[in-house]
Amino acid sequence: MKKVENFIVEDNKVLNPHCFLLKLKSPVSLEDVKQGQFVNVEVKGVQDRILRRPISIHDVDVEEGYLYLVVQKIGKATKELSGVKKGETLSIVFPLGNGFELKGEKPLLIGGGVGTAPLYLLAKQFHRKGIKSNMIIGARTNEQLFLTNRYNAVCNLSISTEDGSVGEKGLVTQNSLMNSDFDVIYTCGPTPMMKAVAMMAQQMGKTCYVSLENRMACGIGACLCCVNENKEGHNVCVCTDGPVFDSKEIW
Ligand SMILES: Cc1cc2nc3c(=O)[nH]c(=O)nc-3n(C[C@H](O)[C@H](O)[C@H](O)COP(=O)(O)OP(=O)(O)OC[C@H]3O[C@@H](n4cnc5c(N)ncnc54)[C@H](O)[C@@H]3O)c2cc1C
Ligand code: FES
Repeated sequence: MKKVENFIVEDNKVLNPHCFLLKLKSPVSLEDVKQGQFVNVEVKGVQDRILRRPISIHDVDVEEGYLYLVVQKIGKATKELSGVKKGETLSIVFPLGNGFELKGEKPLLIGGGVGTAPLYLLAKQFHRKGIKSNMIIGARTNEQLFLTNRYNAVCNLSISTEDGSVGEKGLVTQNSLMNSDFDVIYTCGPTPMMKAVAMMAQQMGKTCYVSLENRMACGIGACLCCVNENKEGHNVCVCTDGPVFDSKEIW
């Protein structure tokens, strides 16, 4: 069930020149939070029509009551959020969206940029099931990477950078793990990257789940600003029907 709660900022840590990690203490149980879901964060000091911003759940610590978000500074709200301090409160609507189901025995996870954030909890849950997934993280350059040691602890990680500063040089679709033995792909990142991954998966006859990041406002299916046309020409609401879709439904 969706809730609106005031979370207390426990920590705000710089990860790289673009991203920061928020550790937030929840006043209520987080046991119904699932990998691939997102939250809608109210950003005080941002005077626009869209008061809340959607951010994926990077990690959850159900025992201690902490939620972790990785945020990239791109506009006014995310820049404002980057300045929050320990002890401040953030009003958060959660948990939102359908999230990832744990399907397959040999999953391949592919993240691009800050879209890598929700794949951590997915890899962790597979790991808890006894499955070590393969993961490709893509970035333009090494300064856009974050928390790679954390990822490495729960999956078999390979990095692709466009400038070759770390890992394999090139795009995620050129990474050697694309030739590994996998049965399902999960991807989140820039739309052109996800489309390219989905097309490759379809050519290989593999299922591919994509997590869309359309612009959103209400996050609860009321404003229809996040709709996407599926392949049959019907509108799907990314915030409630998604954000995770079988790529064959969309592309
Ligand atoms: C389901 C979902 C999960 C998300 N998870 C994360 C996350 O874990 N971490 C994170 O940093 N961001 C995430 N985002 C994106 C995040 O919501 C936006 O970056 C944020 O709302 C931008 O707000 P702003 O006021 O800082 O920027 P704005 O001033 O609103 O926009 C600045 C620029 O960014 C573009 N932009 C804004 N939102 C998006 C978007 N959703 N997709 C593409 N371009 C956009 C605008 O067109 C504009 O050019 C997610 C979005 C969705 C829908
Ligand atoms: S964001 Fe309002 S309907 Fe999806």
